[in-house]
Amino acid sequence: MPQTPQESIHTAPSKVFIKTYGCQMNVYDSERMGEVLSERGYQTTQAVDEADLVILNTCHIREKAAEKVYSELGRLRRLKSRNGRDMKIAVAGCVAQAEGEEIVRRAPVVDLVFGPQTYHRLPDLLDLHNETGAAVIETELPVDEKFEVLDAPSVQPVKRGVAAFLTVQEGCDKFCTFCVVPYTRGAEFSRPADRILGEARKLVDAGVREITLLGQNVNAWHGSGLAGHNWSLGHLLDALSEIEGLERLRYTTSHPRDMDDALIAAHGSNPKLMPYLHLPVQSGSDGILKSMNRRHSAAHYIELVARIREVRPDIAMSSDFIVGFPGETDADFAATMKLVEQVTYAQAFSFKYSPRPGTPASTDATQVPEAVKAARLAELQSLLGKQQASFNEACKGRVLDILLEKPGRRAGQLIGRSPYLQSVYMDAGERTVGDTVKVAIESVGPNSLTGHMVEA
Ligand code: SAH
Ligand code: SF4
Ligand code: F3S
Repeated sequence: MPQTPQESIHTAPSKVFIKTYGCQMNVYDSERMGEVLSERGYQTTQAVDEADLVILNTCHIREKAAEKVYSELGRLRRLKSRNGRDMKIAVAGCVAQAEGEEIVRRAPVVDLVFGPQTYHRLPDLLDLHNETGAAVIETELPVDEKFEVLDAPSVQPVKRGVAAFLTVQEGCDKFCTFCVVPYTRGAEFSRPADRILGEARKLVDAGVREITLLGQNVNAWHGSGLAGHNWSLGHLLDALSEIEGLERLRYTTSHPRDMDDALIAAHGSNPKLMPYLHLPVQSGSDGILKSMNRRHSAAHYIELVARIREVRPDIAMSSDFIVGFPGETDADFAATMKLVEQVTYAQAFSFKYSPRPGTPASTDATQVPEAVKAARLAELQSLLGKQQASFNEACKGRVLDILLEKPGRRAGQLIGRSPYLQSVYMDAGERTVGDTVKVAIESVGPNSLTGHMVEA
């Protein structure tokens, strides 16, 4: 029905600016917060100055990550008093969950604090704040309720690119002794398969070509699939690969203890499952793995990688490492270096151990001195850097399938991703974002590859 001029006059929509810290699950959560708010008429903005609501979606994994939030809150406080207009400030995510009211005590400028499992209640929390004028703190952990709300047909994907994240599993019951995640995200929970398939179809209809399934322990996902069969992640990936228009699948982050036969087999048989696997090992020392409560040995991990390479020889392996865990000796660290030599990684993330409040390892009496941590990290990163460079170097001269994701800085240039998750730059020619093209790799930089398109 055509609108009368009066009907088309409305107040400008409220704007929300969301800043995301931490892991991909927070990226996904921020997108979904945007969706929940858009139902209430909010538009997302990239300009913090014009925002009516600023959300910091935070990470508590290491001390540095958590401290960033407070310096950002200081900047926001100054911006708010300079602009002299009303701007609500919210702290979401894992720092919110871990610190709750303490945030408002340290930073009174904060109006809302809510954890990773309550952001679906955001519109109600805003209403409550507007009614009372007081800070609202919401840190319950009701995981299933969140997805009930988010899965409603009225919640539509907002502005996704070619590659999207999809959370299939949340929380963690593993309690590694260094880690805050079981406390900030709550107990392990798997979303039902039909809901995941439904969300994946919505994403593909909105133009998504690659989906990365997410979970703190994504390969612990389990559910009942078609005909009541028990499914693990391998079966779910196979079901997803039947969606027409979806070209690529990935998943992250996995725990070595949950790599089951079906998932390993999928790496050999599912043509849409990309040959890249992030499988954190943390340490190569059995003693340290034991104190970390990882509940697997270095040999078990190495054997897993061998089994995966048997079905998918070109798989690019990735991992996380912690150096300087309490009690780590030179011999323990040497075992980590040896494991890296044996496995060979295409990419990796490595960190100095950071004691986190409330975790068992933080009160261990045998903390490793900072200088030792720094020296070990430098040594490990140098080896990992060399391995990454030689993995990339080996791609020179090969023709790889590249999914075009976004325009480059130069006119006519596009950036895409290889099956191994490398960024690849090339001239666009006739092709556009969303296409998958064959690219001959010509040169290799520290963080990306360059090539030219060739005929299929
Ligand atoms: N669920 C994943 C890890 C999630 S946290 C897994 O089980 O592997 C991401 C990474 O942060 C971890 O793999 C670990 O390497 C690092 N990390 C977690 N807690 C840490 C801490 N207290 N200090 C330093 N690094 C830490
Ligand atoms: Fe943290 Fe361990 Fe759970 Fe990973 S498996 S999220 S490292 S407790
Ligand atoms: Fe950080 Fe929470 Fe992710 S602590 S790494 S944002 S699960």
